[in-house]
Amino acid sequence: MGSGIAQLFATYGHEVMLVDLTDDLLNKALKNIKSSIVRLKERGVIKEDEMAIMSRIKVSTDTNTVADSSMAIEAIYENYSAKADLFKQIDKLLAKDSILASNTSSISITRLASNTSRPEKVIGMHFFNPVPVMRLVEVVKGLRTDKLTTDFALNLSKELQKIPVLVEDSPGFVSNRILMPFINEAIFCLSEGIASKEGIDDIAKLGFNHPMGPLQLADMIGLDVCLDIMNVLYADTGDPKYRPAPLLKKMVAAGKLGKKVGEGFYSYKA
Ligand code: CAA
Repeated sequence: MGSGIAQLFATYGHEVMLVDLTDDLLNKALKNIKSSIVRLKERGVIKEDEMAIMSRIKVSTDTNTVADSSMAIEAIYENYSAKADLFKQIDKLLAKDSILASNTSSISITRLASNTSRPEKVIGMHFFNPVPVMRLVEVVKGLRTDKLTTDFALNLSKELQKIPVLVEDSPGFVSNRILMPFINEAIFCLSEGIASKEGIDDIAKLGFNHPMGPLQLADMIGLDVCLDIMNVLYADTGDPKYRPAPLLKKMVAAGKLGKKVGEGFYSYKA
């Protein structure tokens, strides 16, 4: 998600500092960005040369390099403590009027903001995978997010040629409150032997005109991410309708995390 967001901002003229844990991850990100820009150019979506766009993306493994940014977007894994620690760190680095956004898929923006000295400048900007293609940005307003920051995020999304939808802070927001129970229920159907994985996916593709079935989509999102989001929905609402499917937990425990590792519900090994 981070590389997709960096690509999007650079495409629309912003200077980007992409920070990740290792050089390997950063090199992989740059490779993905380049091939995505080439695909978009081939389709005529963008006209600018890929090297010109890529020249606006700097990379680093040092979080301190974000200090001069007018905005930081956090897109690490879906874990409250990890995000809270990073928010505390970035809050100390940024100028006091800079905006701190999170690409969280489900975690409370209000709670994340409470780790900073600028809760009115904290907002959720939830992008969708693949970021260069999907048109939505779910803009999530925390309880203390001010109007200036909300308007900024809405206008910025439009400037990036996306369509923003403003939602209140609530577990899973709207997108994952709808999507994840759908995926989770598909996993229950599979584990109960109601249909094959292909059959379940065909029902969504042929019956609802979805571009991909829920099990294919889970593989694309990452089964660990799906489980993290279900856990947030379950923990934050206390509602048993959000309990994660045991098969989802088992797949994650087995390391079958989806497309990114070459195996999930489907195999992606060459
Ligand atoms: N960069 C650039 N272009 C890309 C791309 C990328 N990373 N991925 C796909 N494309 C382009 C392709 O070039 C292609 O262009 P044309 O239509 O002009 O040929 C187009 O997108 C479609 O791609 P493909 O032909 O390869 O494959 P497809 O038609 O099956 O589409 C898909 C792929 C866009 C992923 C489509 O299957 C889809 O929309 N799937 C659903 C995706 C979805 O639901 N995403 C949200 C996930 S939830 C999330 O992200 C948030 C969360 O919190 C969990």
